[in-house]
Amino acid sequence: MLVLPDMKPNVLILGGTTEARELAAALAGRPFVTTVSLAGRTVAPAEQGVPVRVGGFGGAEGLADYLRANSVDFLIDATHPYAETISFNAAKAAAQTATAILGLRRPLWQAGDGDFWVDVAGPEGAVRALGRTARRVFLAVGRQELNPFCNAPQHHYFIRSVDPVDPPLAVPNASYILARGPFTEAGDHELLQSNAINAIVAKNSGGTATYSKIAAARALGIPIFMFKRPPVPDYPAVATVAEAVDWLDQAAGLGVPRGV
Ligand SMILES: NC(=O)c1ccc[n+]([C@@H]2O[C@H](COP(=O)([O-])OP(=O)(O)OC[C@H]3O[C@@H](n4cnc5c(N)ncnc54)[C@H](OP(=O)(O)O)[C@@H]3O)[C@@H](O)[C@H]2O)c1
Repeated sequence: MLVLPDMKPNVLILGGTTEARELAAALAGRPFVTTVSLAGRTVAPAEQGVPVRVGGFGGAEGLADYLRANSVDFLIDATHPYAETISFNAAKAAAQTATAILGLRRPLWQAGDGDFWVDVAGPEGAVRALGRTARRVFLAVGRQELNPFCNAPQHHYFIRSVDPVDPPLAVPNASYILARGPFTEAGDHELLQSNAINAIVAKNSGGTATYSKIAAARALGIPIFMFKRPPVPDYPAVATVAEAVDWLDQAAGLGVPRGV
């Protein structure tokens, strides 16, 4: 679409990630009217630097209604790679309303020398793969995926989350660490070592904010039971905030024409 000089296009960023925050910051002060949408999972979300709306839309239909009602020109899906439902809803809503859509999606982390990763489908797969022998397990998967671990009460779990796990996990041994990323490799090395962790359950989130545990696990020789990434909807996606800004500039007719 070509936007007239006195019209600022409306951008809706589906957020809840570091990249969404960074994109909102990059667009502040530029000729866009930007809103970030959060699901409302954390009690006190990080400052986004632009207006924020909070809570589900009511499925793809609800999101489509929102896009129409707010004359959204560009929809950016910058949600977490494991937030599968909202990403597919975004695809449907964008198609229904003919809204231009872009994914801002972190590339996968790749296992390198010294990494010992076990691929698992999800929490139930991780429970099976952890086995019967009691382990000291760092669960780095988010509060919604914890319940299946109640079926393996022999392990001692260490759970890090932004908000308290409420109710606590129904297992005899669980320790809770309240913290908000980004984390450091030195900090995670200390956390894993001082608690004698011998297994990690994680998502392949990509990006830098939570990579510290992967690097620390490599240094300490700790295996990681890694959730498989969910499928992604079929719309264009970029890997970096800079590329997303470039895409918006081009799509809004603000950028230097390609090839010049
Ligand atoms: N999954 C993770 O591992 C993870 C990790 C870090 C951050 N996050 C962030 O946490 C949020 C929720 O993740 P999830 O995995 O629970 O999502 P999900 O399973 O894909 O979505 C479940 C429902 O939550 C609502 N929702 C999700 N993201 C939303 C957003 N940005 N704005 C408004 N509504 C949203 C939608 O409700 P309606 O159908 O009612 O619209 C959606 O159908 C996302 O913003 C995501 O970026 C997720």
